[in-house]
Amino acid sequence: MDGNGRWAKQRGLPRLEGHRRGVETVREIIDGARELGIRYLTLYAFSVENNRRPQDEVGGLMSLLEYFLDRETATLVKNQVRLLTIGRTQELPDFVRRPLERAIQATAHFTEHTLILALNYGARTELLDAVAAYSRAVAAGAEPAAAPSWETLNRYLYTAAIPDPDLVIRTSGEMRVSNFLLLQSAYAEYVFTPTLWPDFTKEALAVAVADYARRERRFGLTSEQMKPSGA
Ligand code: FPP
Repeated sequence: MDGNGRWAKQRGLPRLEGHRRGVETVREIIDGARELGIRYLTLYAFSVENNRRPQDEVGGLMSLLEYFLDRETATLVKNQVRLLTIGRTQELPDFVRRPLERAIQATAHFTEHTLILALNYGARTELLDAVAAYSRAVAAGAEPAAAPSWETLNRYLYTAAIPDPDLVIRTSGEMRVSNFLLLQSAYAEYVFTPTLWPDFTKEALAVAVADYARRERRFGLTSEQMKPSGA
């Protein structure tokens, strides 16, 4: 969800105003994804690296998260959207953790749509946490001491219960991945759009999904191998 700062700067507004407008886009895109039948939507809301931004911006983002959770939990329940998080959420301030926990519990039984907030997330940190958890499991005798398969290590990632992303969209014209779901995106399709996050819309999401739908995914195989047998 990149471009909030530039959106604000272009208007002579403080950066936080861009994030505030970004929350409105978050609401629109959650709705749009549900309408498009997208079952898993992950929003990269706060990275491990974002912690090093000026403290007033970090504090402002935390307050916006609290505001979003207070205001949107009822809508998530009404629309039967399950909320999950990935990242070191245990390090978030209590005033965010509490409404987060409440929203996760209130929506835990929904199965059709899942919203995943990446909070205090970084792919490298995720790998470190997975390796540490896996090592503890080996030490406890819960895993064999042999080198793990990908399937085994995958069970220790934050995303163990979440399918790999099919499509990753980055707004604001930056052409980089910035420590987001590096392992899970091994075969994801990417869409980079110059639109700044506050200007991103349901319609733009539908355009990105249509672009994705035209692509041929081969997962390292040949076109012929990907065709259904008999085709
Ligand atoms: C990147 O834009 C955006 C962020 C670091 C924060 C994203 C957070 C929100 C949209 C609001 C809170 C989230 C939820 C789920 C309620 P940037 O600040 O790096 O923009 P810039 O590159 O233009 O400076």
